[in-house]
Amino acid sequence: MRTIRSHRKIRLGILGSGSGSNFQALLDAIAADTLNAEVALVLSDVPNAKILDRAGHAGIRAEVIDCRGFANKFPDEAQAETARALQEAEVDLVCLAGFMRLIKAPLLAAFPERVINIHPSLLPAFPGLEAWKQALDAGVTEAGCTVHYVDAGMDTGPHIIQAKVPVLEGDDYPSLHARIQVEEHRIYPLAVQMVADNFSCQTALCSTK
Ligand code: GRF
Repeated sequence: MRTIRSHRKIRLGILGSGSGSNFQALLDAIAADTLNAEVALVLSDVPNAKILDRAGHAGIRAEVIDCRGFANKFPDEAQAETARALQEAEVDLVCLAGFMRLIKAPLLAAFPERVINIHPSLLPAFPGLEAWKQALDAGVTEAGCTVHYVDAGMDTGPHIIQAKVPVLEGDDYPSLHARIQVEEHRIYPLAVQMVADNFSCQTALCSTK
C-alpha cells in the first residue's frame, strides 16, 4: 500500500495523566519513521506522572497543568491555559494519551476537530473509566480499543480506527488490559498518520483555490 505523506511534519501536543505507554508508542513510531510527526509539548495534570519522565528522557518539553487543586475537574481557566500553551508550541494536533479529565469548550474551541483520544474499548460500548473491567464484567467475548475525535461528550466523538482483541478463558482485568494495550500501541500511531495525511490533503485543496 502506498502512503501519501504530509510535506511538513505534523506537530503533536500530548496530554496524559499516567504511564504514557501510548505516548511512547508515538515516539517509537516517529523514531522508526512510520509516523511523520514531531512531539512539540507534553502536558500532564499529575506532577509525578511517568509520562513526564518519558518526555524528559526524550528531550521533549514537558509541563504540569495547574488544575487549581481539583481532583477530577478540569477548570475552564486551566483549559484556557492549556490551549494557550499548545498554541504557543504551534501544535497541529492534540493527542490524549491516558488523560483523565474531561476536555470542554475552552480547549476544544481552540483546536476544532484537532483533538483525538485512545480509548480501551470498542466504542460505543463501554465509555468511561476502566473500560476493560466493564467489558470483562459484561461477559463479552471480544474487546478492543478505539481512536476517536474528541467532542464535549464522554468518549462520544467520531471514530478514526478500531482494533479488536479476543477475551480469553481465564482472563482477569490486567491480562485483558495488557492485550488491549498491545493493539493501542499499534493503532494510535496509525491513526495519527491518517489524521496527518488528511490535514495535508486539506492544505493542498486550500492552496489550489
Ligand atoms: C490506555 O488504556 C488508554 O486507552 C486509556 O488510558 C490508558 C493510558 O495508558 N485512555 P498509557 O498511559 O498510555 O500507558
